[in-house]
Amino acid sequence: MSVIGVFDSGAGGIAVIKELRRLSARADILFFRDRIGAPYGKKTEGELIHLVEGDIRLLTERGADKILMACCTASTVWDKLHPSLRQAATPIILPTARRAAEITKTGKIGVIATEATVASRAFSRALHEINPSLSVAEWQTQELVSLVEGGARDESLTREEFDKIKATLKEVSESDIDTLILGCTHFPLVERTVSVILKGVRTVSSAREGARAMLPLEDRHGRIIYVENKPRKK
Ligand code: DGL
Repeated sequence: MSVIGVFDSGAGGIAVIKELRRLSARADILFFRDRIGAPYGKKTEGELIHLVEGDIRLLTERGADKILMACCTASTVWDKLHPSLRQAATPIILPTARRAAEITKTGKIGVIATEATVASRAFSRALHEINPSLSVAEWQTQELVSLVEGGARDESLTREEFDKIKATLKEVSESDIDTLILGCTHFPLVERTVSVILKGVRTVSSAREGARAMLPLEDRHGRIIYVENKPRKK
């Protein structure tokens, strides 16, 4: 089986690896965590292109056969990368948007993401390409990245962290969306908490959808290759 290269600025990569593992116990994964470049959400487009091209080169040199961009912010510059690097990498905006467009009942979709992702409008564009009649609201919640980088996790959340997440989601909770895209791979690590705060809103995880896009069904379970010979007619 081929080696899947995965990169992110931090904890988002871990969320994506968890999802890849859930889908396949045997996938070989090479993870690069760019601690120096973090946080990606505060970078300009030019800085991001430079960082992401470096990430893809590093993973390829270390033996990755294909690369999953385990970061929505990085994925926003996918179409601006050098063509040879673009070809090796799978971005995660479109598969995540597709899932949200599929499950929304009211057509009102929210997106929470980093500053850079919201500024790029990548999710709005992808959603409107899928279905121009969708109504999309985007909120930058860069502070949620810091909370997750600081250790906030569903399974060990403190009261103080819960209150901070709730404050970050105040405007979202006042909106009438029925579906929320967790448009930063850090956020699925507090997905249950977000669901508790935004009762009745369905969440779409960019980590889960990215992993699904990377590992189509046959790669998750191994293929059956059938070969048959024919007896000669007498
Ligand atoms: N996890 C990254 C994303 O999906 C970005 C976090 C950051 O470095 O700002 O956008």
